[in-house]
Amino acid sequence: MEITLKSARRYLGEIPAPLLVIGVWGGAFSDEGNKLDVRYNQALSRTIRELHFKGEFGQTLLILLRSSKGEGPRFVLLFGLGKKRGADIETLRKAGARLVQEIARLGFKEAVCEVFLSGKFGKKQASYVLAEGALLGGYTWEKYKTTGPAGKRGEKLRLWLARAWGPAVEQAAIVAEAVNFARDLVNEPPNVLTPAELARRASVMARELGLEVEIWDEEQIRQAGMGALYGVAQGSANPPRFIQLTYKPQNPASRVIAMVGKGLTFDTGGYSLKPAEAQITMKCDMAGAAAVLGAMRAIARLKPSVEVRAYVAAAENMISGSAYRVSDVLTSLSGKTIEVLNTDAEGRLTLVDAITYADRQGAEAIVELSTLTGACVVALGEKIAGLFANDARWAREVQEAAERAGEKVWPLPMEKEYLEALKSNTADLKNTHGRSRSAGAIMAALFLAEFTRKPLVHLDIAGPAYAEKPHSLGPAGGTGFGVRTLVELLQAAEKKKPC
Ligand code: BES
Ligand code: ZN
Ligand code: ZN
Repeated sequence: MEITLKSARRYLGEIPAPLLVIGVWGGAFSDEGNKLDVRYNQALSRTIRELHFKGEFGQTLLILLRSSKGEGPRFVLLFGLGKKRGADIETLRKAGARLVQEIARLGFKEAVCEVFLSGKFGKKQASYVLAEGALLGGYTWEKYKTTGPAGKRGEKLRLWLARAWGPAVEQAAIVAEAVNFARDLVNEPPNVLTPAELARRASVMARELGLEVEIWDEEQIRQAGMGALYGVAQGSANPPRFIQLTYKPQNPASRVIAMVGKGLTFDTGGYSLKPAEAQITMKCDMAGAAAVLGAMRAIARLKPSVEVRAYVAAAENMISGSAYRVSDVLTSLSGKTIEVLNTDAEGRLTLVDAITYADRQGAEAIVELSTLTGACVVALGEKIAGLFANDARWAREVQEAAERAGEKVWPLPMEKEYLEALKSNTADLKNTHGRSRSAGAIMAALFLAEFTRKPLVHLDIAGPAYAEKPHSLGPAGGTGFGVRTLVELLQAAEKKKPC
């Protein structure tokens, strides 16, 4: 659905739209501060009482207005917001999402809604989350549908936000568009979104938004010495790409921060083949890359005063006569050699070459996002990303950014004693700790951290990157998880001293 948000300082009743939405908190409708036109107010209070409209979250009631002169809105939609006392900022974000879905379901193309205020949040914050929720909740993925409910596809909705804080709405629109961009990348089928196509889209975006871009092909990757990335990619007919984007602020940057995203456009597991069931969602194995590219998109528009560099090692993990095998030894860019014990632990191999490169290019701190382990999904489930760090301050910065952004992350330990299990008899390291299945997410994080001494935060987003069912902020499929956290992090970074 294509949603246009318009913010206006005016009151609800002053904006001409066929549908007027009124948020109703926890059953008790009060017009306090609503400044509704008395004509609606009296009628509505009565209707709410008579129909026992309780204002439970998401509850709706559509009312046809009798207007004598055909002026003003024809309909009022009562929209339940749930109990005011228990409401947090996430409630308002979800309300935005639910609201646009409801308006679209009813077939309206234009509506006006007042920013829902609970007393707990300022107008700025309330405007931001309502707008963000609306734009995320209105996301649909219909590119490959040739049939569908008449008039449904290519739907448009213009939503006026009355008494909104304009700049907050504009900023939310930039961020939500970036999240939806990331969702599109994840939802693209892997036969379309190959490593080369991912690189092409990154270049198009960079040119559009004035970012610096450099893409390496297979041969450049090999010549640069990225043997770990090259090894993973060598079984695929779709060759790898190494994608680098740079955002430089106009004034001298206070900090240089690198973002790294896992970019496996498909992960079959390779010769350590995944069962058929486990392959079903593996087009999402580039969700880290999507988050990083999405964040870059927003950053190019929001222009913080930090320098931001994005790195994606894009590859496809396939089986063929040229694919890497179990027991192969790969030489990473760092010079460290790695014995491959499981070809399905490919993400960490591609990532360490990107991390080494980011480090060498002069990043002060690195934040890396990857759909890295099933073990992290077992530990934290589908809603929460695992956070691993070798530096407490950098960890706190990322954690606080995630909190502000409304994305759930939870710290897990990097137990040094476990590192012993990654030592190989043949090479410097092995990519898994063999048959043991314990602490899989931690082992992967420890492996990554062997490749840099810079502050590194690794977010294992294997759970929240992809939704199997529709959720409160969007449909099933790519969620765009991470974009909001990264944007928050980089915007706040300009105010913080280097770590
Ligand atoms: N891409 C997967 C991890 C994954 C699992 C992402 C579920 C999203 C949902 C990763 O490459 C992988 O297969 N990891 C292995 C590591 C193991 C072989 C040590 C895993 O988690 O089983
Ligand atoms: Zn894998
Ligand atoms: Zn993978």
